[in-house]
Amino acid sequence: MHTASDGWFETARFGLFVHFGLYSLAARHEWVRSREAMSQASYDRYLERFDPDLFDARELARAARRAGMRYAVLTAKHHDGFCLFGSSLTDYTSVRAAGRDLVAEFTEAMRAEGLRVGLYYSLLDWHHPGFPVDEHHPLRDSPGRRETADLADYRAYMRGQIRELLTGYGEIDLLFFDFTYPGMGPEQWGAKELMETVRELRPGILVNDRLGIPGDYVTPEQYQPDRPLERDGEPARWEACHTLNGSWGYDRDNHDYKDPAQLVRMLVQSVSCGGNMILNVGPTGRGSLDRRAHGILRDLGEWSAEHSRAVHGAGPSSFLPPANALYTQAGRRLYLHLLAWPPRHVHLPGLAGRVRHAQLLHDGSEIAFQQVDGARHEHNNLAPPGQPPGTLTLTLPTSRPDVLLPVVELFLDDEELST
Ligand code: GLC
Repeated sequence: MHTASDGWFETARFGLFVHFGLYSLAARHEWVRSREAMSQASYDRYLERFDPDLFDARELARAARRAGMRYAVLTAKHHDGFCLFGSSLTDYTSVRAAGRDLVAEFTEAMRAEGLRVGLYYSLLDWHHPGFPVDEHHPLRDSPGRRETADLADYRAYMRGQIRELLTGYGEIDLLFFDFTYPGMGPEQWGAKELMETVRELRPGILVNDRLGIPGDYVTPEQYQPDRPLERDGEPARWEACHTLNGSWGYDRDNHDYKDPAQLVRMLVQSVSCGGNMILNVGPTGRGSLDRRAHGILRDLGEWSAEHSRAVHGAGPSSFLPPANALYTQAGRRLYLHLLAWPPRHVHLPGLAGRVRHAQLLHDGSEIAFQQVDGARHEHNNLAPPGQPPGTLTLTLPTSRPDVLLPVVELFLDDEELST
């Protein structure tokens, strides 16, 4: 694993993914051109209408920050080949189409809000003549399909664009390449050379694994790991990428939304397994977040405001949580995330004698506890029946606090630092 990162990624834990492009105007998934096998001329209707008048990067940055996100990644180029930056290598850009360098606006706004900045770059490119007309290509069934792609030309194009992105927009903290599939892999991408260019320009950058060669982190997609991930027997740095409704690009008629409480549970599960979560929004054709996305970010922000320290700078714990709960830990503070609200008592194995103080995290209200001390078990009439020695039992309020995911903060004794 490349280790140049100063640990910002692990501290940040929660990121915003932004998929925006010409497909946002179609409003029916970012693969619309491929799914509907559209010709370039037909897809050009979005280019002609492209006018992101409501794309406000500062507003987006504020929404992300408030939601508890600490980094953000924008699609500099997606599979359709359309670039959200001013590239000297193509006219197929937001600068040509609308006079807007959205990568510039985005990177500046995110940094101003204190967020780390990442860029997504599609390895597929259905606009570039050098890219082969393969099974994903919109022209796959067209009679006049191109047989003779010039991949060397396309490779040079990618290297050139990556150079533009990594030299023209200040410090870029992360690169998300997408993606490798049968027939198109490291050899076709010139992955090794591309990676060398990236490392040379930005030694501290984190690069994902989708070039088909090992990168700095792995990217389970719309899949939630429930244990730490490994690669070749070594712990892997990872980030689960998730959508709000199954689509990355704006998808107007798709109402299959995850609810905010579920999203918080996914975030906490990621942190409890040593990973990150990046949550996607697909701005509308005019570039703003729709009400659903807005509402979800706002709800996440409400939880985040009161629970940030159970996530940011926190990681997995070596203690074993009880059923229906997850632990995250930051130094001497152990966070018990209660996925289901227990009837008054929750029993924590192995924590007797190790906790100084317990409180609900959202309001700092003290939580009483009793401990079954192994030696005095039978004489201690405060000890809850049926619990093995070493158990710490918390007494919770009867009614569940009105937060998306209730968390108890446990202050461990100093000695626990060494465990
Ligand atoms: C997939 C999809 C792509 C999306 C990406 C995000 O690779 O092809 O549309 O951008 O996942 O991880």
